[in-house]
Amino acid sequence: MDILVIGGGGREHALVAAFRKNKDVHTIYALPGNGGISDIATCVPIGTKELDKIVLFAKEKQVDFVVVAPDDPLVLGLVDLLEEQKIPCFGPNKRAAIIEGSKVFSKNLMKKYHIPSASYQVFTEVEAALEYANSCPLPSVVKADGLALGKGVVIATNREELCQAIESMMVEKKFGSSGNSVVIEEFLIGPEVSVLAFTDGKTLVPMVSSMDHKRAYDLDRGPNTGGMGTIAPNPYFTVAIQERCMQEIFIPTMEAMRSEGRPFKGCLYFGLMLTPVGPKVIEYNCRFGDPEAQVVLPLLESDLLSICMAVANESLDSKQVKFSTDAACCVVLASGGYPVSYQTGKEISLNPLKDGVSLYHAGTKKDGSRLLTSGGRVLNVVATAPTLRQAVDKAYRGVDSVTFEAMHFRRDIGQSALQA
Ligand code: AMP
Ligand code: GLY
Repeated sequence: MDILVIGGGGREHALVAAFRKNKDVHTIYALPGNGGISDIATCVPIGTKELDKIVLFAKEKQVDFVVVAPDDPLVLGLVDLLEEQKIPCFGPNKRAAIIEGSKVFSKNLMKKYHIPSASYQVFTEVEAALEYANSCPLPSVVKADGLALGKGVVIATNREELCQAIESMMVEKKFGSSGNSVVIEEFLIGPEVSVLAFTDGKTLVPMVSSMDHKRAYDLDRGPNTGGMGTIAPNPYFTVAIQERCMQEIFIPTMEAMRSEGRPFKGCLYFGLMLTPVGPKVIEYNCRFGDPEAQVVLPLLESDLLSICMAVANESLDSKQVKFSTDAACCVVLASGGYPVSYQTGKEISLNPLKDGVSLYHAGTKKDGSRLLTSGGRVLNVVATAPTLRQAVDKAYRGVDSVTFEAMHFRRDIGQSALQA
């Protein structure tokens, strides 16, 4: 079988590595891929938003299966175009990907179907939003409606910050048309949990839970990033909480999407907060999380490709999805200055990694025999081990094998989980 994976970050490297375990897989094309993915797949220099070119490529190469990993092509409708051409693929279509593509849609969905989430107001006019900002409770959370590279969320602790966030989204258009509407919502408190789930629209199977570390610096300080590291499983997510989430959040969300005529097929990501009154949804994503996939997929013992194909042909109920009882830790190595401003093109020096430690590339590119940085998040060092403590220690020992100028990483990935 020949498969095509859309995307070129650490998540996609972890996906390609998991697909490589299937002996029936012959060629894997990664579009656009990166410097590390190119060691195990054929990289294709096409952008993830060049939908027509992607479909043409898949047809020309007669690939047997396409996996669409990033949010942009999903929200733009790549799956619809592939399905029109009868090319089997994994990922939600445009009507379903809106669960991530529009926060207004997802908040309204949760309200309509009584899925627990923060209370909220939607604004399409800046004047009304600013008026509300004068009297709403503090802190409040302002969210741009559309995609914003994970950066369209501001937690405002005072009215000035709140008004500034509204103006930067709605007037200055910091996130372009994503800020045409904003959601202002209640500030929630509690441990955060990420849960990825396979669903074919009728059956939903949660994967092992994980914990992201979104802030740039240790002790959860600094600006929000796409994610500076992850651990799995998340110790806060007990069996009892998982059961409650299944009943109150996971299954109701899948059924709500079906009732709306938007059945969701693919990986549904639940960003949860375990508040004192129970688990609530912070956000949905219509795809594998990054860097959540980098700790979840190495723990998957079942064959990923056959699960993805079962999702595509709506036979997930017949599939076994088994995870190891081990723990995993991922430390993201970023360019100094990420996520604000950073330089690329720095040469990366790599020493061989010990057994049980993997290196997934996020923003790297090859230049002859040299490996260079090409993005904000550069590399992911991932370790699995029987306990979380061992996985964390092993991942940080792996970090010692990598250097590049101005390399930045958090030294506390997994610490709050170890104290849980
Ligand atoms: P999001 O991009 O929606 O995942 O939001 C980014 C981060 O902002 C989340 O991981 C939370 O830490 C925080 N956040 C989002 N919404 C809320 C909320 N209603 N209350 C408290 N924190 C929030
Ligand atoms: N790590 C969060 C995300 O993938 O959106």
